[in-house]
Amino acid sequence: MIVLRPGRYQSNLKIRRIQEASLAQFFEVCSVNEIEEGRGHAVEIDGLRVALFLDQGNVHALLGRCPHANGAMGHGWVEDGEAVCPLHRWRFKLSSGRCTTMPGQNLHRFRCEVREGRVWVEV
Ligand code: FES
Repeated sequence: MIVLRPGRYQSNLKIRRIQEASLAQFFEVCSVNEIEEGRGHAVEIDGLRVALFLDQGNVHALLGRCPHANGAMGHGWVEDGEAVCPLHRWRFKLSSGRCTTMPGQNLHRFRCEVREGRVWVEV
């Protein structure tokens, strides 16, 4: 990780270039039609496992590896606005990634968007 400390020897242009290089990017991962309502959908972005969920028409993207024992969240499902891990059923809020089964064992939640029927995830 690059830590920027603007000083008199760094130009604003150089700082801007470094910041742009370190920003997350959106990746197109699938069609929204490939995600079944209430079911997980596993995708991989540059080696990173991500689990997509469609809940009441909204797409959510969570880290694809459960913090308990690396369960495949993409093979999980949705119950009451929470993603359920298929291995031991730990539950995670779709809206935040917060684990409601074991406090503090949260999943990273990625920003995602649907553009013209395609799902984009920011990593
Ligand atoms: S691996 Fe997910 S609950 Fe155990």
